[in-house]
Amino acid sequence: MPGFYMPVRVYEENEAVSRHAAELAALGKKALIVTGRNSAFINGSFDDVTRALEGQGTAWSVFRDVEENPSTDTIMRARDLGLEEGADFVIGIGGGSPMDAAKAVALMIRHRDRDISYLYSPDGDSSALPVAEIPTTCGTGSEVTAVSVLTDPVKERKKSIPHEIFPKLALIDGKYLRFAGKSVIANTAFDALTHLIESYLNTKSDAYSRMCVDAGLATWALSQPVFRGEREPDDSDFVHMMRASAMAGMAIAHTATTIPHGLSYTMTVKLGVPHGKATAYFTAGYLAEADEADRNYLLERAGFRDIGDYRAVYRAACGEIDADGALLREVIEAAVDELVSSPQKLALTPFKTDGDVLRRIAFFETEA
Ligand SMILES: [Fe+2]
Repeated sequence: MPGFYMPVRVYEENEAVSRHAAELAALGKKALIVTGRNSAFINGSFDDVTRALEGQGTAWSVFRDVEENPSTDTIMRARDLGLEEGADFVIGIGGGSPMDAAKAVALMIRHRDRDISYLYSPDGDSSALPVAEIPTTCGTGSEVTAVSVLTDPVKERKKSIPHEIFPKLALIDGKYLRFAGKSVIANTAFDALTHLIESYLNTKSDAYSRMCVDAGLATWALSQPVFRGEREPDDSDFVHMMRASAMAGMAIAHTATTIPHGLSYTMTVKLGVPHGKATAYFTAGYLAEADEADRNYLLERAGFRDIGDYRAVYRAACGEIDADGALLREVIEAAVDELVSSPQKLALTPFKTDGDVLRRIAFFETEA
């Protein structure tokens, strides 16, 4: 058993940032806020954080240039700013990209004498500056995991760095989702769902990680009518979506993700498909290969009748993949090749996964 370890202090409540300003400021003397170009400035999260810091007399500077699927170059630019500014803690605000970037920046500021290759160096010291995370989407769960997924622009490859960097503090407030677009909410909510499913269908899964999955699925199901197009989301949905995402993050913090995530990265890098939309695309095929009792439990707990129902709701919420058939098959073929060379992910599958099984999962949607 891997042991249940969740060292992040989590506050999930209305006005979480202002209520926990003192704990946020206690992480250091000067914060480097790491965020994207727009959403944190629209949804109020950036103002909440800077007001909280200023109220505590804590200095800050901001790097607001994290792109989707952040590149290792971006991490180094943010690191340089953090060093120049004398930052001694890092606050990530946004979706998975800024939150993952914040962890990597915290690592690289701590290891100021190392170059970009340190990010993917498996044997290095993973100590990092303290990190706080404020999620503004509902999928990644990065606020409670040690994972940082970056994109190597030279190799055109999206991959987790080998360093484990748990945030110290996660401040979760559903109100930030009020400003997220419909497709962002759908794509990220399906990312959370795939985390729950991949954590459960996983050799590392145990009673404790499944506790997170079970609660996460039940919470996710509460907002399922929104994804069916039956109603608009309200504030309680935003709370539930954020909570399901955090619970899913806790689940994968223990098990990691498996095949749908492993296949998704190539699709995201080559076709620009949003992360959650890409992982959920491969999830029907993964469920189809799973043990029947597991499959039925997962689908029912999340509020689906069967795989067909899952696929219909996924399409209604996230839409079709925007690529013609030949290109799509070529990209999926490349994803299979990439994953075959990554035996760690395949080893986490609780059923025997040879090349044929992997292809059945990968091409499930195109064959259906
Ligand atoms: Fe994900």
